[in-house]
Amino acid sequence: MAPLKLNTSSLLLIIFISYSLSYVPPRMEMKRLSNIPIISSWDSNSDFLYNYNSALMPTVNDSNAVALLVRVQSLRNDSKTIYDVGPSKIALSRSIDNTYLKYTHISQQDILIDNDQEYQSIGTEDPRIVLFGNTYYLLYTALSSDSQGIWRAQLALATCELNCFSKLNWKYYGPIFPNVFWSKSGSLLVHNETHRYLFFNDSNIAIALTKDLIHYDLSSSFLLKTRPDHFDSALVEAGPQPLKLSDNNYLFLYNSARHTTIPNLKPNWNLQYNLGWAILNGDDPTQVLARSEQPIFSPELDWERCDTQSGEWANRGLTPLVIFIEGWKKTDENRFLVWYQGCDSTMGLAELRVYFS
Ligand SMILES: *[C@@H]1O[C@H](CO)[C@@H](O)[C@H](O)[C@H]1NC(C)=O
Ligand SMILES: *[C@@H]1O[C@H](CO)[C@@H](O)[C@H](O)[C@H]1NC(C)=O
Ligand SMILES: *[C@@H]1O[C@H](CO)[C@@H](O)[C@H](O)[C@H]1NC(C)=O
Ligand SMILES: *[C@@H]1O[C@H](CO)[C@@H](O)[C@H](O)[C@H]1NC(C)=O
Repeated sequence: MAPLKLNTSSLLLIIFISYSLSYVPPRMEMKRLSNIPIISSWDSNSDFLYNYNSALMPTVNDSNAVALLVRVQSLRNDSKTIYDVGPSKIALSRSIDNTYLKYTHISQQDILIDNDQEYQSIGTEDPRIVLFGNTYYLLYTALSSDSQGIWRAQLALATCELNCFSKLNWKYYGPIFPNVFWSKSGSLLVHNETHRYLFFNDSNIAIALTKDLIHYDLSSSFLLKTRPDHFDSALVEAGPQPLKLSDNNYLFLYNSARHTTIPNLKPNWNLQYNLGWAILNGDDPTQVLARSEQPIFSPELDWERCDTQSGEWANRGLTPLVIFIEGWKKTDENRFLVWYQGCDSTMGLAELRVYFS
């Protein structure tokens, strides 16, 4: 019998497979910190009707203060239903106390990223932001329409170094994959000096590589795909940037959808969005060590469900049965604050705790 020959890469693969098979994932618990929305136009927190999908912008001068970059949207002037919306924009709202439950009122002057370029003429959506060095890297969806009037989503980049609460100081780089028709939802991970990753897109979560956080190269691999037999069967979409756990691996939160028959008032709407997690290898974040069997967070309260059983919220939800996450903050070892939205209409706040053993 010929002796079994192993080259280095197959050895590494075997080591990785045995490690991931032996990896025991930690237990996780996510709890709401408020039973009412923390930002809602129905509580007069904003001049815009819908306030959702917020990125967490850490502030450099006061590490306790946070700013949210909030996707804001109102009805069109000629709207006939609560679903006839105008363009989305990205606006700033700052926390006003240490509970993170109260924020400055949002009005027109708080808009940081407007729909003022051709590639984002139909709207700017879904911010995710990372502070690296002294620079903010903001990835967001730029919506436009092509020459045939077909809507097109492109993941776009803007950066800022100084006085970033002023829209004048943001520099636009435009779409990062100009040759790709559809891309969105970018979670940027600055892993080390040489390896920086972008986990992005919906339907499946793809991987791109970057050296300078400005230029991105598509790879052909995926970080996560949908699973037909799980809660994430219809769609997976990146959450915010992965953050480290005490075992040196990364926790990655991802948004997901499955089909549902729960009755709601939005015509033809039959998806429910839930939050999932994956643990990424701290030495090679493209390797998934573990993935949630069940959602860690789901639409439960009236303003998260907005279905026909949700009382006044049945008629307030732009998109029923959605919770969605684009911003979080580590507050202690294995403890995180998670800003989430309900029904594409309001913002809420929860705490996530991770327990080993
Ligand atoms: C609604 O009309 C006002 C005034 O006519 C205009 O300034 C505004 O841009 C319109 N809003 C939308 C969302 O079309
Ligand atoms: C605080 O930091 C933000 C960005 O981190 C900056 O835009 C703002 O101007 C700073 N405020 C003060 C008072 O320095
Ligand atoms: C992103 O997902 C869309 C479908 O939602 C797909 O058409 C597109 O090719 C994907 N883009 C990349 C770069 O994988
Ligand atoms: C950076 O990360 C890559 C991928 O995990 C790894 O191969 C490389 O050795 C790391 N570099 C340093 C300097 O740690």
